[in-house]
Amino acid sequence: MKRVLTYGTFDTLHYGHIRLLQRARALGDYLIVALSTDEFNAIKGKKAYHSWEERKAHLEALRYVDLVIPENTWEQKRQDVTLYHVDIFTMGSDWEGKFDFLSDLCTVTYLPRTEGISSTMIRNTMDPQTGEPVIAPTAAETPAS
Ligand code: CTP
Repeated sequence: MKRVLTYGTFDTLHYGHIRLLQRARALGDYLIVALSTDEFNAIKGKKAYHSWEERKAHLEALRYVDLVIPENTWEQKRQDVTLYHVDIFTMGSDWEGKFDFLSDLCTVTYLPRTEGISSTMIRNTMDPQTGEPVIAPTAAETPAS
């Protein structure tokens, strides 16, 4: 049984996330996702549209994800790798080289990021209160005055 661990916020779950999780799971037999808490995101200067509980439920609905744990700090990674008997640590290539310091404990691998999609991109198309799209109508859609 090979255990794989990855970290992230996974807000407004999109196909870039799905592809990352699918490939992460294929590296082993059991995928653990350490999901950034709302408090930790505040420290990072990031605000997710969905709460931690909602994001956790979205991840748990995926066949690739076996376990979701909270990510509370930058420093917890070595402890998590040991505690959960992790064999492979993986992240998207936007983090290339950043977690090589774990390689004395487990294999560290970076997976190519999917181009053209991000949570930020999706959040920028949404009203932060209602979640409704806020993309301006095209000239063709605007009623003539
Ligand atoms: N990821 C990916 N391809 C994308 C977006 C994300 O492979 N297009 C990967 C990241 O590299 C990371 C994981 O998915 O390993 C979680 O990334 P996260 O930061 O939650 O997603 P983003 O869409 O990048 O979010 P944001 O725009 O808020 O930074």
